Amino acid sequence: MKKINVITIDGPSASGKGALSRKVANNFNLNILDSGVLYRLFAYFYNLNTDNQEITNIIKNQINFKLEKDNLRVLNQDKDITSKLRTEDIAKTASKISSKKEVRKLLFNIQRNFYEEKGLVADGRDMGTVVFKDAKLKIFLTASAEIRAKRRYIELQNLGQEVNMPALIADIEARDLKDSSRELSPLLPADDAIIIDSSEMSLEEVFSFTENLIKKEFI
Ligand code: C5P
Repeated sequence: MKKINVITIDGPSASGKGALSRKVANNFNLNILDSGVLYRLFAYFYNLNTDNQEITNIIKNQINFKLEKDNLRVLNQDKDITSKLRTEDIAKTASKISSKKEVRKLLFNIQRNFYEEKGLVADGRDMGTVVFKDAKLKIFLTASAEIRAKRRYIELQNLGQEVNMPALIADIEARDLKDSSRELSPLLPADDAIIIDSSEMSLEEVFSFTENLIKKEFI
């Protein structure tokens, strides 16, 4: 298989994929795809009773992504809807609709279109196993459920949302189980993925490990 200039970063919720992807994209000047945001966008419009084809057209034609320092903003016709997508409610709907074949199929081409020759970093659940099987470098980033819940807690608090830690751990575990056991594109490391357990690592340490891999295997 011809390999393309893509780094995939898959893993469970709140494993740090997003922060690592943004750092990699900024440091190596790569395009970025946060595929979880596409599923969250799908969920957001689904909750507004929009039909699937129309949702696809909206995502293709009126949504833009803006990578700032360590923030990926989502704009709907210039209106910033990032915080509307980053709720646990939307995450739950996203997890529900992401097991539907039609939804995964509609998002497949949109995701492939993020590829640019200068290179792409793509994070999600099935980037290395399904969407970019042909990626040059594949990483699977994980961490214990407690650590991930703590990270998500801080993230949600920073967004000004009320959070309850036991409920958050339960939500994260339920979502992981659903994502890992679904029939289509389950959350799994690709055979050729490098697995990083970040439970005891800071973002800086994970980045430095990844940077070495990129210099060795990607550039
Ligand atoms: O990564 P994030 O928490 O934003 O993803 C929200 C949900 O979208 C996940 O729980 C998962 O069900 C779904 N998803 C997926 N495949 C991807 C990315 C996200 O099924 N590649």
